[in-house]
Amino acid sequence: MTDPQATATREIIGDLMRQDARIAPKYFYDACGSALFEDITHLPEYYPTRTERAIMATHGAAIGRKVSAGGTVIELGAGNCEKARTLCKLIRPARFVAVDISADFLHEAAAGLRAAFPGLDFHVVVADLTAELAMPSDLPWQHRLVFYPGSSIGNFDPPAALDLLSRIRRLVAEDGGLLIGIDLQKEVAVLEAAYNDAAGVTAAFNLNVLNHVNRLTGSDFALHQWHHRAFFNTTESRIEMHLEATTDTRVTWLGGERLFHCGERIHTENSYKYRIEDFIELLDSAGFHNAEAWTDEKRWFAVILARP
Ligand code: AVI
Repeated sequence: MTDPQATATREIIGDLMRQDARIAPKYFYDACGSALFEDITHLPEYYPTRTERAIMATHGAAIGRKVSAGGTVIELGAGNCEKARTLCKLIRPARFVAVDISADFLHEAAAGLRAAFPGLDFHVVVADLTAELAMPSDLPWQHRLVFYPGSSIGNFDPPAALDLLSRIRRLVAEDGGLLIGIDLQKEVAVLEAAYNDAAGVTAAFNLNVLNHVNRLTGSDFALHQWHHRAFFNTTESRIEMHLEATTDTRVTWLGGERLFHCGERIHTENSYKYRIEDFIELLDSAGFHNAEAWTDEKRWFAVILARP
């Protein structure tokens, strides 16, 4: 048996010791980080959540008609399960599997959903989407719909996104499907504002990853010595988030240390912004075809239904 905390520590320290230091974005989501992300989704500058919700409100019935009722919905990154409510009303599944990395938050949210849909056969899977996706062994294969909203696929670089989509493909049989939200390319000012909100919630979310790393690895990052940075990288078509040292700072952990010079950065997240046609190509490579896309009036966000 491998100890998950020891594995996490090894991975984090390895990434911190790289020339281009980084922290994997999955470490954002401790209880505090999950709550901060929930706050981000309500910010005026953060358009993805409300735009996706508006697309579902306008086109949900049409999307629902294309999906069989009575099957299984598998929601990846279920979070507070709020989007699941809308989807369950639309397609009336018999079963629902909520998959997320944050156990506490997920169990709480799942209880709310269970109360709202008493007849629904409900499962919770605590999993890291970068690892193998194991479903409950007795879960029927017929009519599985994987629901991956929120443009979270954008947090994977293209090879990792292809790998995840291919693993999702292996979760569904020929009669299954994937309903996925993606964030689209748009004016840089709109993109950058969404990750540099005036209230500083995204900054707090970014900095909180250092608290989580301190707890996991025993490191001593002093949060006040780090600054949130977020900008659009046009070449890669992604928002990059970094933490930048505001002074020379030595960070130590059990058995090691690193001196970060003033201005040195730790790369914490990428958020890719797609063109619909490029994403459909990616889906195709992963074994999902016949994609149909629904967007908002400004074409800021898209919800895509694809089939094997
Ligand atoms: C979860 N994910 C889709 C968010 C995003 O927009 O990439 C995470 C986030 N990071 C900063 N703000 C939101």
